Amino acid sequence: MSLRLGDTVPNFKASTTAGDIDFYEYLGDGWGVLFSHPADYTPVCTTELGRTALLKEEFRKRNVKALAVSVDPLDKHLGWVKDINETQNCTVDFPIIADEDRKVAELYDMIHPNASATATVRSLFIIGPDKKLKLSITYPASTGRNFHEVLRVIDSLQLTADYSVATPANWNAGEDVIVVPAVSTEDAIKKFPKGVKVIKPYLRYTPQPNID
Ligand code: BEZ
Repeated sequence: MSLRLGDTVPNFKASTTAGDIDFYEYLGDGWGVLFSHPADYTPVCTTELGRTALLKEEFRKRNVKALAVSVDPLDKHLGWVKDINETQNCTVDFPIIADEDRKVAELYDMIHPNASATATVRSLFIIGPDKKLKLSITYPASTGRNFHEVLRVIDSLQLTADYSVATPANWNAGEDVIVVPAVSTEDAIKKFPKGVKVIKPYLRYTPQPNID
């Protein structure tokens, strides 16, 4: 059965371009982004892995570890990484899982037979420090994912884990956020000293609380 938000994600051991790993140990007490791609030596995947490598510092600042997976073997991954580094001007140093026996693909329901009987689709999972699933998205093989959007969601998840706020449509870090309905306006004024703007009783904004 597919994973749903709030589920504890399954652990696994795997062979990767960075050596053998235990998934939970690799994540430690940080956040994780596990994403599958259909195949090595394909153009869209090349750009996706390159983009993830170029955003290394952004992932590091947020305490997020990335991990890619496809059903190709390790030697193929290692050869392809050289091409990614050359063509995308990057250094891929996050692990790419060689999931030849499809163990990870099946655990995470990454093969959608009506799309492809053998290749993984573009699944992406954001996993919290509690090992629970915070977000999942599935893209078709023909559409590369937006890794700035992945970072934006992580910013929202990390903020809303600590404060009684939610983030509005198209929100980006630094912009005003929404006070959650469970907090009364009276309490919101006490909780959010930067101020609360009441548009409607259910629509209240406050400046992002965790920045100066
Ligand atoms: C790609 O990554 O470029 C790709 C992979 C499978 C189908 C179509 C495109």
